[in-house]
Parts: sequence; structure tokens; C-alpha cells
Amino acid sequence: MVKGVFMSFPKIRLRRLRGSASMRKLVRETSLSVNNLVYPLFVREGENLKEPIKSMAGCFHFSPDTIAAEAAEVAALGIPAVLLFGLPAKKDPTGSQAWAETGVVQRSIKEIKKAVPDLLVITDVCLCAYTSHGHCGVNRSTGFQPVPAQRRGLAEGGQARPGWPCYVDNDATCELLAKVALSHAYAGADIVAPSDMMDGRVKYIREALEENNFRDIAIMSYAAKFASAFYGPFRDALDSAPAFGDRKTYQMDSANARQALAEIVLDIEEGADIVMVKPALCFLDIIYRARQRFDCPIAAYNVSGEYMMLNSAADAGLLDKEQAMMEMLISIKRAGANIIITYFAKDVAKCI
Ligand code: PBG
Repeated sequence: MVKGVFMSFPKIRLRRLRGSASMRKLVRETSLSVNNLVYPLFVREGENLKEPIKSMAGCFHFSPDTIAAEAAEVAALGIPAVLLFGLPAKKDPTGSQAWAETGVVQRSIKEIKKAVPDLLVITDVCLCAYTSHGHCGVNRSTGFQPVPAQRRGLAEGGQARPGWPCYVDNDATCELLAKVALSHAYAGADIVAPSDMMDGRVKYIREALEENNFRDIAIMSYAAKFASAFYGPFRDALDSAPAFGDRKTYQMDSANARQALAEIVLDIEEGADIVMVKPALCFLDIIYRARQRFDCPIAAYNVSGEYMMLNSAADAGLLDKEQAMMEMLISIKRAGANIIITYFAKDVAKCI
């Protein structure tokens, strides 16, 4: 276009490239493939469950005995991976059900792997759905909380900060996250995905996996995860909204792009195989910049609020759901993500 007169109108008419469906197909630069989709699944304690999640239309709570059938359906659509979230029967201050051998996620991993061994099982590694206070780690805001067994003498390092609206002890939390990841690995997970935003958690998890000879378990870190309003429907589904304060002392400030790149560098250096940007739509610039800088696989999480924003607008008759869905997901791909985690995965698989 910059070459001057030879390249200008009417010799060049870009509409020639849009004249028919076949022509558009021929010149299309980006495409969505089922190969790059991850479908999130929710499991809770119970039996024979397939309960609609009120805040997330089309999504369900399953129990460990019903999850394999759903996973098989996902696999049959050609989707290569699921991302598991668990809701325990009881929560406590440290979130101990998160690493219990008989925990709801641990049992579900085994069921899925038995029924559909080729389907990749990714597990969300976090504490917020398991702690009574709803924070993603060991809470020291209101005084001293039970402390986990020490591994490197770091667990006691955090100070209580009475009066602070929210203080989550970084290193003590990392110890627990490593235990959670390890328990998922023992249950048969293929990829563990820490979503807590503590500093150093990837290092703790990678070391724990290595020490236990889990050399082939990949880590997909929620590397640039922003404190976002778009997690609202998900927190309803997992009853994981913080009981006090917010997540702004650990999740990122949405105004920061350079810091997001710093987060990603650190996670790669600590041993992450795949890095994630989350949410996706308000952060396409971060995905784009990450793609320019890093050669590893980049995942983007098309989160619950993005999903429900579109569903609600479609239900109100304001837009065409399928077209809007495809436009939304292709924008994430075009920005540079190669993996998209989305509640639309099954819908997409059915229409491409
Ligand atoms: C756990 C976690 C959250 C999501 C994924 N993992 C919630 C949060 O950080 O509050 C949100 C996913 C979604 O909104 O779809 N920390």
C-alpha cells in the first residue's frame, strides 16, 4: 500500500477479496479450531448430579460419578482438554480439601482418566473455593491462622497484619499450592494450572513435581491474571467470592501492561510450559504483546463474565449469539493466543 501510485484505487479494490464466501475463505488469515479449545467443568460433592449453574447458563455442577460421561461427550466433539474446578462439601481456613486425596477434584480426575484416557485433564490449582474466607491463600488479615507444615522454613515467615483489609501470606500459600498440585498429579492430571497469583508459586510447584518424579506434568500458569469484575458469575458458581476485602493485593491491576509481561517472564523462568492471560477481551493487547515477546504457547481465558455478557445480550434479542461468539473468539486468536479456554467450547465444536 505504501508503494504509491501502482497500489492505489482503482487498481486495488480490497472488496475484490470479499466478493464471495469462497473468496473470503481463501484469504482468511485466522481460523478457529476445536484443537485449541479447553472446556471448563465444575464438580461438587454429591451423587448423580447434573445441576444447572444459575449464574452461568448452559453450565452444570457434576459429581465425581457423573463427570466421566460429560468428559466423554466433550472428547467426542474433538475438544482435547477440560479444565476442572471443584467445590468441596466443607470449607476451612486453610482450604485443606484442596489437597485431600479423596477430594472432589482428585476423585473426578481418576474417573475421567479411566473413561477417556486421551482427554487432557487440566486442574485449577487455587484455594479460594476451599477456604472459608474465600481468599486464594493463607489469610493473616485478622490474626494468626493455622500454618502448614514447613518445607523450607518459609511457612512461618508471613506476619499477621491486623487492620489490613486483606493480607494473604505469599510463601505459606505457595507451600499449600504445591501440595494441591502434587495431589492432582498423583490423581492423574496432565496439566496443573495455578490461578492464585502468588509470587513464586510456579517455582514451588515445579520443584514439588520434580522431587516426586512427575517430570511430564505440564504447568499452565495463570501468569497475567487481572483483578476483574468479569469473574462474577464464576464466583457465584463456586461460592468463592472473598468474605471480606478483594483480590487486589494479589491479582493484577488492570491498568498494567508492562507488569503483565514481567509476570509472564517470571512464570516461564520458574518452569511454566504454557502461560495464560485472563480475562481475554479487555486484555487483547496483553495477549498481543505476549505473542510478540514469547515463543511458548499462550492461553487466554474467555471468562464467565464475558460468556454471560454475550449470553444475556443474545437472550435479550440484541445480537446473534453464534456470530457474536465466533467474532469474540476469533479476536482472541487474532491477538495471538493459541489456546482458548471457553465455556463456549462445546457450542463452537458443534458449529465449525
Ligand atoms: C480461582 C479462579 C477464578 C476463575 C478461575 N480460577 C476466580 C477468581 O479469581 O476470583 C475465574 C474464571 C471465570 O470467571 O470464568 N482463583
